Amino acid sequence: MKVNGSVALVTGANRGLGQVFARELVSRGAAKVYGAARDPLAVTEPGVTPIALDITDPQRVAEVAGQCADVSLMVNNAGVMKASTFTGPPTMDAARLEMETNYFGTLNMCRAFAPVLAANSGGAVVNMLSVSSFYTNPLDASYGASKAAAWSLTNGIRIELHRQGTLVIGVHAAFIDTDMAAGINAPKVSPESVAQQTFDAVDAGQVEVLADERTRTVKAELSRDHELIYPPVQEFWDAAVRDTP
Ligand SMILES: NC(=O)c1ccc[n+]([C@@H]2O[C@H](COP(=O)([O-])OP(=O)(O)OC[C@H]3O[C@@H](n4cnc5c(N)ncnc54)[C@H](OP(=O)(O)O)[C@@H]3O)[C@@H](O)[C@H]2O)c1
Repeated sequence: MKVNGSVALVTGANRGLGQVFARELVSRGAAKVYGAARDPLAVTEPGVTPIALDITDPQRVAEVAGQCADVSLMVNNAGVMKASTFTGPPTMDAARLEMETNYFGTLNMCRAFAPVLAANSGGAVVNMLSVSSFYTNPLDASYGASKAAAWSLTNGIRIELHRQGTLVIGVHAAFIDTDMAAGINAPKVSPESVAQQTFDAVDAGQVEVLADERTRTVKAELSRDHELIYPPVQEFWDAAVRDTP
């Protein structure tokens, strides 16, 4: 599977990482790049064909899979993060929206496009995940649960779609310099770096991208998470809660 000459579709292509994914695909010689967005008029990247798509609407996802039957590289980038704890908010609205978008929306796309990719020599699926797929941080707890579900989905469809020759890539990152992390004062990887690493992985047939140092460290520490990952998170959270009036 090569990016050059592929027909790609990127969800959430109107801004942030999705816009940069679309730009990088054009610059690497993709034959066609569909830029899917809830507001297609907001897809302004040169060389990108706008398409209206809310990934939480299964009927529309099915229509788009019919319209874009030439897709060989699907980039599931669209996502939401509501910075919500599990027990703090008065309702589960944030948790439901995150699960509906990040897990069920991505699942909608994978189900609808699996036969399209099969018809186009297997192709590739890129699912945009997070370091929060690997561990729970109370700052974005319910988002982490949705990304953990999407990680599980990614590993599952890799097995299911192996027979049809589809490469399935999970891309994990800590903070990326986009609107989603705008209020956060911490090191951030550039969206350009994430996009370059992602499409290098497509060309190399690599199944996972760990896009920054924080993400690589957390993945390496997973087998000792209760010794290495959770104690500093607990310490940080206890201090934050103690300092809250
Ligand atoms: N930024 C980070 O720190 C970070 C870190 C790790 C992973 N990620 C992941 O990277 C991906 C891109 O995020 P970003 O940083 O570019 O965030 P962003 O700037 O907030 O952009 C999110 C994109 O997703 C779209 N979207 C949300 N819900 C949608 C829906 N139901 N249907 C279609 N599109 C929808 C948004 O469209 P609208 O303009 O219509 O809202 C927007 O285009 C997400 O999956 C995110 O979870 C981000």
